[in-house]
Amino acid sequence: PVIYVITPTYTRPQQKAELTRLKSVFLHVPALHWIVVEDAPKKSQMVSNFLESSGLTHTHLHQSTPQEWKLKDSDPKWRKPRGVLQRNAGIRWLRSKFAHDANPRGVVYFADDDNTYSVELFHEMRDTHKVSVWPVALVGGVLVERPLVGSNGQVSSWLAGWKADRPFAMDMAGFAVNLSLLLNKSGVEFSIDAPIGFQESVFLEKLITQEELEPKADLCTKVYVWHTRTEQPDLKQEIRLNKVGKHTDEGIEL
Ligand code: UGA
Ligand code: MN
Repeated sequence: PVIYVITPTYTRPQQKAELTRLKSVFLHVPALHWIVVEDAPKKSQMVSNFLESSGLTHTHLHQSTPQEWKLKDSDPKWRKPRGVLQRNAGIRWLRSKFAHDANPRGVVYFADDDNTYSVELFHEMRDTHKVSVWPVALVGGVLVERPLVGSNGQVSSWLAGWKADRPFAMDMAGFAVNLSLLLNKSGVEFSIDAPIGFQESVFLEKLITQEELEPKADLCTKVYVWHTRTEQPDLKQEIRLNKVGKHTDEGIEL
């Protein structure tokens, strides 16, 4: 089955670096279709060119987040959901692509643009009958958030620091969904108003029960994905130069 990877992304100085890091991994993964959804009123030339020359099978979409749902500079980062409407635009694209397909084959993975993904992760998720799960490192204030697997091979509980009593106490990077499961449950999407930190739980509750989850990565004992975050670039000098009419990115794309 093809792995459909849905990535929300937005314009910022490090955007191309983030997308490049993902591309470098995805090029090593067979049968991967990258659905990149820009949080913007229209598709950007940079991302268009980037995808065209990437060598990857891809779909380029855009879906902007309405102003009332955007983070303000004064908001803490967790204040508003990020990437929600973009992931939904990706899901809707899949729904229309497979609208006349009685048994669509594939796996869907939601890959934020700033995480670190290994090639092995995609080998693990390829065989996903309903929803597969695995550990995610560097998230939720701990080294590793992970499903704990009982002797019957099923997920018995969650090892997490923050709100370990969430129904599915894992990050977006910690699961993949079978395409026909997702498409057969009509209208299943992410909710813009899910309580803070419950985005994944609210979504997965519509699809599956804990007992049905398929633990991957050697029964969730290996780390193949890291919830890394990129430091804000220091642009103090750029801002100073801009004030005197100089732009270091004039005539060059970064
Ligand atoms: C954490 C989770 O890992 C995300 O899956 C979850 O969406 C997010 O929290 C949340 O609470 O909404 P975090 O690292 O804090 O993620 O968030 P970002 O990586 O900044 O954003 C998640 C995705 O949304 C990224 O792919 C990012 O490019 C995209 N995004 C972010 C937008 O499309 N628009 C924005 O304005 C901001
Ligand atoms: Mn992130």
